[in-house]
Amino acid sequence: MRMALKALLGVAALALSASPALADPAAGKKTFTAKGCGDCHYTDGPAKEKTIADQLTKKGPELWYAGSKFQKKWLGAWLEDPKPIRPMKFNSLTEKNPGDHPKLAGGDAKNVNEFLMSLVSKDVKAGVIKPKKAAKGRLIFTKKMPCTGCHQYPAKKRAKYKGGNSGPTLVGAGKRLNPDWIYAYLKTPKIFKPVKSMPVFAGILKDKDMKNVAQFVATFK
Ligand code: HEC
Ligand code: HEC
Repeated sequence: MRMALKALLGVAALALSASPALADPAAGKKTFTAKGCGDCHYTDGPAKEKTIADQLTKKGPELWYAGSKFQKKWLGAWLEDPKPIRPMKFNSLTEKNPGDHPKLAGGDAKNVNEFLMSLVSKDVKAGVIKPKKAAKGRLIFTKKMPCTGCHQYPAKKRAKYKGGNSGPTLVGAGKRLNPDWIYAYLKTPKIFKPVKSMPVFAGILKDKDMKNVAQFVATFK
């Protein structure tokens, strides 16, 4: 009797693991390699252990902290239907983003999403930043600091967005980025983007104000 039960449980477990409805990080990792994603993206880090030459051999941004940076729902949808994030081509200030990022079909996208979300950084503390539309953060972003010179952000009234083109768009940042990562990035940019980092604001902005501006960016629709 006990044997039969064990066998039954075994069959149930097998059926569960074979179920296509369950997204699987290990399968995602295989797909990531098979589709050549790793030719353009690092999935190992921290990036500070890499040299500038190492960084420039990859044509896309590092993904070793993707699970700390992105919101899972956004990432799953983007893998199936990637829309340009940077107005300019990665690592270029003159060429436009060609908008030709490889797409993944539904099942592959689910598994790769699971794999990428498993890649986290210990330098991103969870639960520190809550999205907040406060005057302090707005003032820093739009007036006190030059953020808008390099980043598109959502505009009120007729124009959909305003701002510069040299950095990734921050339109939709509230759905795309983990608020805690925004703060961690402002605080220690070199850990995440050792080569292509924007001006370092740590030291210019107080810790409290890096939190304020991260909270504000996290509200961008
Ligand atoms: C030929 C090089 C290349 C290949 C192959 C490639 N990517 Fe990318 N990837 C890029 C570039 C360039 C960007 C930046 C796109 C943008 O800003 O719009 C990017 C952006 C991304 C991002 C967003 C990262 C960020 O920080 O903004 C993710 C996630 C991603 N790629 C996943 C994948 C996956 C999964 C595959 C395999 C199916 C893949 N990439 C294949 C070049 C590549
Ligand atoms: C001189 C131009 C410049 C200025 C000024 C600037 N940034 Fe950036 N920013 C960049 C670049 C370049 C990147 C990274 C580029 C890449 O990964 O392709 C970046 C990346 C970011 C990211 C991560 C986006 C992503 O998807 O990876 C955030 C968030 C951000 N900046 C917020 C800010 C805030 C807030 C300010 C003002 C306090 C600011 N930036 C000022 C150029 C700038």
